[in-house]
This record gives sequence, C-alpha cells and structure tokens, in this order.
Amino acid sequence: MSTDSPKRKITLSGLKKLFELYSFMRPYRVQYMVGMVFLLFSSGASLVFPKLLGDLVNVGSSGLMAEEINRVILIILAVLAVQAITSYFRIVTFVNVTEKTLADLRRSVYNHLVKLPMKFFQSRRVGELNSRLSSDITLLQDAMTTTLAEFIRQLIIIFGGVAFLVIISWKLTLFMLSVVPVVMILVVVFGRYIRKLSKKAQNEVAESNTIVEETLQGIQSVKVFTNEFFEMRRYKSITQEIANTGIKNGRMRGAFSSFIVIGLFGALAAVIWQGARLMGIGEMGVDEFVSFIIYTAFIAGTIGGMASVFGRVQKYIGATESVMEIFHEKDEHIEEDRELLPGEVLKGSIRFEDLSFSYPSRPETEVLSNINLQIKSDKLIAIVGPSGAGKTTLVSMLMRLYNPTSGKLIFDNMECQSMSLTALRKQMALVPQDIFLFGGTIRENIAYGKPKATDEEIIEAAKKANAWEFISTMSEGLDTIVGERGTQLSGGQRQRVAIARALLKDPKILILDEATSSLDSEAERLVQDALDKLMKGRTSIVIAHRLATIRKADEIIVLDKGRIVERGTHERLMLLDNGVYRGLSELQFAV
Ligand SMILES: Nc1ncnc2c1ncn2[C@@H]1O[C@H](COP(=O)(O)OP(=O)(O)OP(=O)(O)O)[C@@H](O)[C@H]1O
Ligand SMILES: [Mg+2]
Repeated sequence: MSTDSPKRKITLSGLKKLFELYSFMRPYRVQYMVGMVFLLFSSGASLVFPKLLGDLVNVGSSGLMAEEINRVILIILAVLAVQAITSYFRIVTFVNVTEKTLADLRRSVYNHLVKLPMKFFQSRRVGELNSRLSSDITLLQDAMTTTLAEFIRQLIIIFGGVAFLVIISWKLTLFMLSVVPVVMILVVVFGRYIRKLSKKAQNEVAESNTIVEETLQGIQSVKVFTNEFFEMRRYKSITQEIANTGIKNGRMRGAFSSFIVIGLFGALAAVIWQGARLMGIGEMGVDEFVSFIIYTAFIAGTIGGMASVFGRVQKYIGATESVMEIFHEKDEHIEEDRELLPGEVLKGSIRFEDLSFSYPSRPETEVLSNINLQIKSDKLIAIVGPSGAGKTTLVSMLMRLYNPTSGKLIFDNMECQSMSLTALRKQMALVPQDIFLFGGTIRENIAYGKPKATDEEIIEAAKKANAWEFISTMSEGLDTIVGERGTQLSGGQRQRVAIARALLKDPKILILDEATSSLDSEAERLVQDALDKLMKGRTSIVIAHRLATIRKADEIIVLDKGRIVERGTHERLMLLDNGVYRGLSELQFAV
C-alpha cells in the first residue's frame, strides 16, 4: 500500500481532473483573478530588469551625465518597489483563495467519505483514506498557489524574454534557441529517470509508515505477545532500505545537478561566444549584449525550473486522482436529520425471502445462503450457531450495511430497497459484538444514540442499562473520559454504555450481537436485566451465547454455515436428536 499519491503522466484526462479540482475555486474566482493581476505585474516587473541593466551599462559607458544615471537608477528602484508590493499581495491573495478552497474541498471529501457504503471501507485501510484527506490535499494546496503561479510566471518570462531577445538581435536569438532546447531535452530525459528512483523511495517510506501505524494501533497485542523485538527488526530492515534507496537517489541527483550546471553554462558560453562575434562585427552594442546575456540566463534558469514544475504537476495529478476517486464512488443516500413520514414508521415485522449474500471482498464464498425467515413485530428472536456461521452478517443485512447478493429483505410490507435508508436505520439500534466507544466522555458516548438528548434522558438511559451504578461511583460521573476506543472501561461497562446508547435511541427494532466474552455472573445479571427492560415493545433480535437470553426467546433460529438449520422454541429444539442447538446447549451445560 502506498500512502503517498503516485505521479501520473501528464495526460489530457489527468489535466481535466486537475481542472475539475479548480472548480472548487469557483466561489473565490474574483479574488483569484485579482491575484493573477498581481502576478502579471510582478512577473512583468522582473522582465524589464535586464533591459534596465543594459540601459545602465549604456549610460555608464557612453559617459553621460550623472543625472541620466540617477534617472535609470530611480526607474530601477521604482520597478523593484512595484515588484515587492505586487509579490506581497499576490501571495496573500492566493493563499487566501487556496485556504478557503481547500477547506471546502476537505469538507466535501470528508462529507462524501462518511456517506460511502461499508463495501468501500472493506477494501481500504484507514491510514490510506486518512492520507487522502491530509497529505494529498496539502499537496494540492501547493498546486493551487505556488505551482500554478510559478508556471504562469515562467511562461511570461520565457515568452516575454524571447520577445525582448528578438528585438535586441534576432540572429543571436535564433542561435540561442538552437542550443538551449537541446540541453532542455537532455535535462528532461535525465529527470525522468531520477523520478522513477524517487518513486521507489516514496513507496518504501509509505510501507514503513504502515508498520508504525499498525504497531501502535495494536500495541497491546505487540506487548502481550512480547513481539517488541520482532517489530523492531521489521522496522529496522525497512528503514535500512529507505536509507539505501535515498543514498542512491542522492548520487543520481548530484550527477543531475552537475549535468545541469555543465549543460546550462555550456549553452550560455556558446551564446556569449556568438554574441562577442556579433559585437566584433558591429552588429550589436555592449548594452544590448549585456541585456541579451541576462535575458538568456533568465530564460535558461526558468526552463530548468519548469522541469520541476512538470514533475510536481505529475504528482498533483496523482493526488487529484486519488481524491477524485473518492468523489466518484457512489455514496449511500443519507438524509439530513428529519422527522419520519407517517409511511416510514416501522411496525417491526421483518421478512427475509431467499436471501443470499457474499462479502464484496470475497465474492466466491457465500456467507448466507437462501435465508427465509419471518419475524413478527415485538417478538424476541434469538440467533445461535457456531462461530463463523454468519450471525453477525445476518444482522448487518438488517442494518443494510451491505446489500444482499440475491433475494429480498422486507420490513413490514415494504422491500428495504424502496425505503429511505436514513429512516430505516433511525428506527433500529445495534449493540455490536465488538463495541466501539469514541474517545470522549461517557456522556458523549451515550448521547451518540441521540445527539440532542438532555442530561436527564442520558441518566435515565444509563439507569435502565444498569450503567448508572458504575457511572455514579466514578468521581467525574458522566464526564469520565473513556480513553481511546473506550479502553479505560471494562468489557461489561462498555457493553452497558452501548446498551444505554441504543436505549436512548428508542428503536423499534433492537439488534444485539452479544459479545462472547464471559462476564462474571453479577455483570451478566446486570446486562441481562438491562436487556430485558430494553426489549419491551420492540422487535428484538439477539445473537445469543447465554442460555438465559435464549430461554426467553419466542423463537430460536439456529444458523450453521450460512443456512438456517433449525428453528423453534428452546423446548422444541432440545427434543431434536443430534440437533445442532441441542449440541450447543449441552456443551454449555457441560462447562
Ligand atoms: N467483512 C468481511 N469480509 C469478508 N468476509 C467476512 C467479513 N466478515 C465476516 N466474514 C466471513 O463471513 C463468515 C461469517 O462471519 P460472521 O461474522 O457473520 O460469523 P458469526 O456467526 O457472527 O461468528 P461469531 O460467533 O464468531 O461472531 C465468516 O466465515 C467470516 O470469515
Ligand atoms: Mg459474530
């Protein structure tokens, strides 16, 4: 994986994408134009310089009055002032536009990103997406201001400079133009080769970042398995590779810059030689010659700088592509918070019709096969089955985290595809198997079920979830910080916070994916007790590992290898000889 954007060939479609990006600048275009005007002035000012220096030489060598010299000096000072002032305003204006544009762009990318379906996140790493929002967009910042301005300035200097040259001496200009482009082509070819090398270095750096990220994210596992030295070695070898590649790159870059010096100065020397010849036969004055040489140096330098601009444009296209790729992913239709329409209110019955599903990342393995299931409203359904049977997957279907590969999912009498996703999810709550808490306070975490909840509502939910007992004993109460991902709470506490969160949402359909981790009997009783209260007046679907929950269920669904193999009440299922359920529960009793 690479967290850095790849360089792309400069193609028409690549440039088009870059321009697509510039559309984010539209609201600020007037300001942008003002910046351009400043840019024109500051580049124009730098163009008159060589001419003025030539004039100065002319004035000096022809022995004119001091007054004349002062006049030229004053003009030079005025030009300097214009350049200084316009440069300042150009930078300030461009930065202003860019910062606003980037904020818009960041927001749009993020807004789009959070609306993308689970399918999208399955195939990508968080670090990679994060880097699109941070480094790629930061790179584009450079593209929008510095580089574009630089590029335009370079064009002005090259074309304006050549125009001045032609005016001074078209013969010498022709000669110059036959030498400099040759050098330039060599520079570009050499530069390409170097870019290939540095790409390798970039990939290695990205790889090393992945190691750091993974190690730190899983630092507990690293410690528990005493794999610190294993990780150190892993990191050491990659850092060594980075260093080696970097050193090799350095040698090449050194050679490249020597080459540029020789090439450019060689070209300059050739032009001086021709100029001196023309001066010798009287076709050119000393002042013109001085201006000519300075212009030529100017142009040559600019052409050299242009190669780096092209390199950067390639990078921008890479960055734009990866940012635009997010935009081109189809998002889920998520609506702003709104009241439910009367037709959208769920009664709580659910029907699976011949539903099959494979995860997009592993299309060849069917995780759910031909599920047919009718769940009446306000009932408690338990789903049991061996690990990997597809229980969690089944409830992900209900939440519409994924779309079924085939078959239908029907709520009340409406097919789920025809319902508003937001309305549907709003009426369901899921307490997942691996509970995720956000790094803030307990209050924030419970209120995640209903962001506008009052403290009273939060406390009530916490009480019903049997979470209030432990929250109220903490010195900070609801303001207790739960630590990153909730690691400062125990498993049972986290579970009760998650239950309180679900309760606050007051869902019509409650889905509970019980964690397999065994709570002690007191904690289990508390959680169980909370659940009993939580289930009243709703359709509840519980993936159960504890017999207490299962016994109370109106129906038990036994899932094995993605198929429903048995269903019925506890008593009925226990009567089945060699039944999967009987096997499972005998195992549990035996412990
Ligand atoms: N995101 C995913 N992408 C691809 N395959 C997955 C994904 N999540 C689960 N699976 C696969 O789907 C199958 C069912 O997984 P699921 O999580 O639904 O099992 P489960 O019944 O909940 O098991 P457990 O009791 O251990 O929680 C497993 O074989 C698993 O490897
Ligand atoms: Mg599961």
